[in-house]
Amino acid sequence: MTSISLDSAAPASLDVDAIVIGVIPTGPGDGSGGSGSGSGQGSDTASAPRVAGADGLDEALGGTLGAALKALGATGKAGEVTKLPTLGAVPAGVIVAVGLGEGSGGAFSAEDLRRAAGAGLRALAGTRRVAVALPATAPEEIEAVALGALLGNYSFGAYRTGDRPEPVAEITVVADGDGVPVERARTLAEAVALVRDLVNTPPSDLNPEDLSGAAERIAGETGLAIEVLDEKALVEGGYGGLVGVGQGSVNPPRLVRLAYTHPEASKTLALVGKGITFDSGGLSLKPTDAMDWMKSDMGGAAAVLGALSAIARLKPKVNVVGYLALAENMPSGTAQRPSDVLRVYGGKTVEVLNTDAEGRLVLADALVRAGEDSPDLLVDVATLTGAQLVALGTRTTGVMANDDEVREKVVAAADRAGEASWGMPLPDELRKGLDSAVADIANVSGERWGGMLVAGIFLREFVPDGVRWAHLDIAGPSFNKGEPYGYTPKGGTGAATRTLVQIAEDLAAGIL
Ligand code: BES
Ligand code: MN
Ligand code: ZN
Repeated sequence: MTSISLDSAAPASLDVDAIVIGVIPTGPGDGSGGSGSGSGQGSDTASAPRVAGADGLDEALGGTLGAALKALGATGKAGEVTKLPTLGAVPAGVIVAVGLGEGSGGAFSAEDLRRAAGAGLRALAGTRRVAVALPATAPEEIEAVALGALLGNYSFGAYRTGDRPEPVAEITVVADGDGVPVERARTLAEAVALVRDLVNTPPSDLNPEDLSGAAERIAGETGLAIEVLDEKALVEGGYGGLVGVGQGSVNPPRLVRLAYTHPEASKTLALVGKGITFDSGGLSLKPTDAMDWMKSDMGGAAAVLGALSAIARLKPKVNVVGYLALAENMPSGTAQRPSDVLRVYGGKTVEVLNTDAEGRLVLADALVRAGEDSPDLLVDVATLTGAQLVALGTRTTGVMANDDEVREKVVAAADRAGEASWGMPLPDELRKGLDSAVADIANVSGERWGGMLVAGIFLREFVPDGVRWAHLDIAGPSFNKGEPYGYTPKGGTGAATRTLVQIAEDLAAGIL
């Protein structure tokens, strides 16, 4: 367990093993290198990158920091990591200089700081005590440095044997301020780590029952109310989407309802998460290359659980209910067949033409059920379509809504939380592609194009009348198949967790 604290002492004096500092590129015509704190000295370091946020460190090193960084090829480019030994000049044995990039107008955004702190911590796995001395004075900046450091320090070691670098045990954020932002960062980082752990856990160890068990444990720890519908209750309750998707698996489906209530709340937020613990595609089986990452198909449900765990600790003045729609999508003799018709909670019928479009089926049940909480805002999160990746790439969440203002405000909330997202339309003309010859609606369209939007249009049919709703497609962002970057590791990323917390806080503040 990592500890994190705040210290306003000079970094050079701290009894730690390593110090993370920031490096800024020296722009053209900025050759004197003299404007950054602790920057290079004199003409031989004229084009040395400048150092930010490490007051006194250069002096302690005899004014050599700028020249040393230059000699090592540091440029200050965002994400760049340069390590240099201190050779006894200060208690810390090593300095990790992280590029902060250009910033804008001489200032760095919270996301610049989070990424730099994260990259610094990632480079220090195996080190015990690390101080992070980046340019942070405002509470938001201090929170960003703390959060980036904690998120970058994440590792998933549950299934490894033998020696491997441990994450950093003690993080000291070097800044002047009170501890509130650091506490908030700790709460958010724990929520994101929970989501990453759940996504990374192999599907044999995280079936719907296991995930509902994890929700019960979190509810017990944080004081959330919880109700779990098992397969029998789902059949009796008429939850045809969850029952249909789950029927091919020996691991039966679950619907989890979590609730956070604030005594003075006047509004209710409902969150719904897609929780397919493994998506083989069902009888519409996925090809091999598309299947190996489908343990991550519960990333939406995990984000809802993670967000609620943070909300229970941060206590915004709003009520929040969260639904986890949990099933395993498997092919078998009991699996649903393409052309089967199921009856979603509330009675609408769906012709299942492709069993791999299963997320929208379990979400339909949960969206209708969430309407019974009379929410002021309903938000679902789902690893819903490969088309999201085609449209927006691996890192940008697609945001759709039944209300333009809601969509814009959700994108703005994601932006403030430091998560990339982009508003997408729900064009009405795409609805006719979902017309079914036998049921109220089909689960896939005869139309090839706009698959992310078609899925959104399908979901919109199940949003209770008059309820403001937004849909986040996190198919790409929830799982990083590439190399780690900034504070984002390989594998589960925790995508949307921080956005959902921000949405709850924005609704509490009356701005959403
Ligand atoms: N879970 C997948 C979507 C997905 C794809 C998530 C890649 C993460 C990465 C979803 O259930 C799915 O299979 N969607 C189909 C829908 C299609 C059959 C209309 C898809 O996108 O191919
Ligand atoms: Mn699928
Ligand atoms: Zn899926």
